[in-house]
Amino acid sequence: MNEQEIKDFKESANKKFRAPARINLIGEHIDYNGGLVLPACVSLYLTAYVKYRDDNTIRFMSRGFDGEIKTYLNRLQYNPRFKWAIYPIGIFYILTNMGYKFEHGLDIYYESDIPSGSGLSSSAAILDVTGLLVSNIYGLNLSKLDIVKVAKAVENDYCSLKSGIMDQAIIALGKKNNALLLNCNTLQYSYKNMELNDYRFVILKTNKPRKLIESKYNERVDECNKSLNIIKTKYNIKTLCEIDPDTLDDIYNLLNDDLLFKRVKHVVTEQKRVKDFALALENGDVQSLGKLLNESHESLRVDYEVTGIHLDTIVEAAITSGAVGARMTGAGFGGCGIALVNKNKLDDFRNNVIEYYSKKLEIIPDVYIVDIVDGVEEI
Ligand code: GLA
Repeated sequence: MNEQEIKDFKESANKKFRAPARINLIGEHIDYNGGLVLPACVSLYLTAYVKYRDDNTIRFMSRGFDGEIKTYLNRLQYNPRFKWAIYPIGIFYILTNMGYKFEHGLDIYYESDIPSGSGLSSSAAILDVTGLLVSNIYGLNLSKLDIVKVAKAVENDYCSLKSGIMDQAIIALGKKNNALLLNCNTLQYSYKNMELNDYRFVILKTNKPRKLIESKYNERVDECNKSLNIIKTKYNIKTLCEIDPDTLDDIYNLLNDDLLFKRVKHVVTEQKRVKDFALALENGDVQSLGKLLNESHESLRVDYEVTGIHLDTIVEAAITSGAVGARMTGAGFGGCGIALVNKNKLDDFRNNVIEYYSKKLEIIPDVYIVDIVDGVEEI
């Protein structure tokens, strides 16, 4: 579509929906281990403009990606030629398999200011926004949690990614100025206010091109499952997050494998940090928040081994530039960091981070000053 066609499409759309990006404050690589995570939605958006059709075609267009991708409601198979549209098509596919019927097709145009491949979950944003629009337009009355489960099924069953539920959940359930304390095992949740007087969270984008992240991610999931199976031979647990940190010495002997032990140690200590972080948020204890962020990054660097030079350097840049704490966010292997920064010193902070990081790595990072916002919605 050219610019005029885009403008006409947007103006004549029947409905509009949007989904934000997410950051995870703490609780990394915890969701698929059945524990507590603490993510929040941020003010970078993917917007979907929808027009109804009379036939059974569904057509997907996007400013960021060339061409249009089209398929038919009665022919919803997996097909690699769907490229980025595999996510929205997956929503139709999973819902069809659940028995839902769609009487007519749609044209959907997506426009996004969430940088893709940056670890801010543009994929969960497109899944949730499509889940909500399909539910509203066809009157399916799906709850937010239903949308989350359908979106996760698309990633796991349709796209064969072993990802957890955190990203789909926060983008559906996010609340302005709040983080979501989500138990990924029971799906129970509560909100934690994130207004911290003079401090706010800032996003630091490394601009490292991310490659092969799915296979490394799946490898970590497999290492955790393997460890769990060994630990279960002695302990009565269903998930790694149930492990009592005091038993780690015994678990070291039981696993008898340094690599697996490091993975488990990260999960167990990170789980404790999430609980401490939630408490520190309640108390507005900025120093403790900063310390926990730093400890989390260190654990992801040394024990879980998912950071790398770009994320380590951006975190180092943030601390050197005055952040009270900083860590990688999301899956890792590149992507973004977050930092807790005094809001009266943001300009200096941004300039110093850019200078430090670009001097070391010869890549200019991006610094996003964002608000904490509501989750997916019709607009
Ligand atoms: C990715 C996955 C999430 C979660 C994080 C790591 O964002 O999609 O399910 O596992 O990595 O915490």
